[in-house]
Amino acid sequence: MEKSRIDIADDICFDSILSKTGKNISSAQSSNSIEQLYPIQDSILQVLKAACYDCHSNNTNYPWYSTIQPVAWFLNRHIVEGKEELNFDEFGNYSKRRQQSKLKSIASQVNDGEMPLTSYKLLHKKARLSGKERSMITKWFMEKYDASRN
Ligand code: HEC
Repeated sequence: MEKSRIDIADDICFDSILSKTGKNISSAQSSNSIEQLYPIQDSILQVLKAACYDCHSNNTNYPWYSTIQPVAWFLNRHIVEGKEELNFDEFGNYSKRRQQSKLKSIASQVNDGEMPLTSYKLLHKKARLSGKERSMITKWFMEKYDASRN
């Protein structure tokens, strides 16, 4: 889902708070990351890191244009909201039920091409997943989801 223009005023208020408190960068190695919970093959992890981690982890690779307003406002808003919905670095802290529902929703969001966000793909070539990458990720998360229900 894309943000509507109506949200702009809201974005500005919200994100000026975040930009004062700093960037989404953590030097701490998370012990609750999804990689600690499941062995993930490198081919999948690399795609997730390139296409999802900017908004769904404790570390964002800030692009050069991220300091330019209003880009920064939109970007920060996506990071804050994205992390709230799903944080791969905190996955192990989620309840079993929440983990299950996230595994399933990751598979469906990627399968349907809903994630990564279109606005992000415009500027991040590596986040434009190929059909093969999409099906690899969908399959992996569906398998983990199925296994988690047993
Ligand atoms: C530019 C930031 C950004 C990127 C990159 C991004 N997301 Fe998101 N994601 C969001 C935001 C913001 C939301 C919450 C609002 C929405 O659903 O549009 C979200 C929501 C989600 C949700 C929904 C969570 C739920 O439980 O409903 C899933 C799953 C998800 N993202 C997975 C992914 C995956 C997997 C990738 C990489 C392939 C990815 N996202 C890349 C910003 C991002």
